[in-house]
Amino acid sequence: MNSKIRARPVGANSFATRVWDESPPTIPATGENSFARTRFGHALRRRFLLDPSVRFLNHGSYGATPRAVLAAQERLRRRLERQPVAFMQDFLPDALRRTAADLGDFIGARGEDLAFVENATAGINAVFQSYPWRRGDELLLSSHVYPAVRNAAHHVAAAHGVKVREARIPFPLDHPREIAEAYAAAAGSRTRLAVVDHIASPSALIFPVREIVTGLKARGIRVLVDGAHVPGMLALAVGKLGADWYVGNCHKWLFAPKGCGFLWAAADAQRGLHPTVISNRYGEGFPAEFDWCGTRDPSAWLTLGAVLDFYRGLGAKALRAYNRDLAWRAARLLAEAWQVAPPAPRNCFGAMVTLPLPGKAGGDAEAGQRLRARLWKRHRIEVPLFSIDGRLYLRLSAQVYNDPDDYKGLAAALPALLT
Ligand SMILES: Cc1ncc(COP(=O)(O)O)c(C=O)c1O
Repeated sequence: MNSKIRARPVGANSFATRVWDESPPTIPATGENSFARTRFGHALRRRFLLDPSVRFLNHGSYGATPRAVLAAQERLRRRLERQPVAFMQDFLPDALRRTAADLGDFIGARGEDLAFVENATAGINAVFQSYPWRRGDELLLSSHVYPAVRNAAHHVAAAHGVKVREARIPFPLDHPREIAEAYAAAAGSRTRLAVVDHIASPSALIFPVREIVTGLKARGIRVLVDGAHVPGMLALAVGKLGADWYVGNCHKWLFAPKGCGFLWAAADAQRGLHPTVISNRYGEGFPAEFDWCGTRDPSAWLTLGAVLDFYRGLGAKALRAYNRDLAWRAARLLAEAWQVAPPAPRNCFGAMVTLPLPGKAGGDAEAGQRLRARLWKRHRIEVPLFSIDGRLYLRLSAQVYNDPDDYKGLAAALPALLT
């Protein structure tokens, strides 16, 4: 076991063709470790269990975990099973706190302000269910909110006589400030709590979080940031955003095993914050109550030491730059092939970019799912489609195991499926 255990229109030129003939960037030789001279792209795919016959363009939905991280998790599970009582009672409590401190170092937070949760959904439900709602209060979401978060909001709203509002995000858009303006316009005098997507699921837009948070807080509104896609995709300084709560997933862009999320709470937003499952440590406060929610497999969290070793070993900055650059270059290639325009400028996107489908391409979520299934069955291309304001968009992901070749087949395959 790891001894630390704690871890848009497209120009008429032939831009796409040109960039595609360049070789993918290499990791600068930082000397951080043995990965330092490794090329990103297919050379790294063997470090994952991913089926090499699939063009996997959807890292965003569930992530993909490296073999080395899965091996570290397996070692932890074996240790647990050798002496379950000693593991759960003597080792786990401190190990979780040390791991929280390590994660805190990575995301710019204090370990004592961090609790582990299985996923972003669990963290968001905890905040919604802990908030002292009063009849007539309003809960503000964005129109690009993740469906589970919308459902959780309506569930808690129905129980407390609360109204759910949505800030209508303009899409396509020309500037990220339009997103902040949408939040400012939708917030009202009864808005108590707002959920701000840091990276929105269907559109992949990076919201100008700090600007939105500052505006909402100035009006006395508590803010929960949904950063499900952020750890590993963007550099993060949670403590500096000015939010009350922040939820993130480590199992998407940070390569952790599935079930590895966190909930950060500002010091003055911890009182009264309980997990959705009340258990033995009820009354001990945050984050202790979250550290034990009944018997469960804690190995995904405890593997974070190995996760951070893997991520940093690739060169964190270079990895983020490669993914962001590849996602945009792939989007430009497809946009040129399909004669469509990316729906927002480059600075609105990270390692995921959305593109409208060619032609009219109207459609609902089910139409998107049918198209996804056809791409997968006929072409072995895995890529998600989302319906936004009645139009279908495809969401590309780029991760270190992808290279430009992965996106070329999609350029030809998709239009044929639309006719
Ligand atoms: C913005 C956003 N929030 C929340 C979630 C939920 O993540 P999880 O299923 O890990 O709870 C997702 C999942 O993709 C997401 O994109």
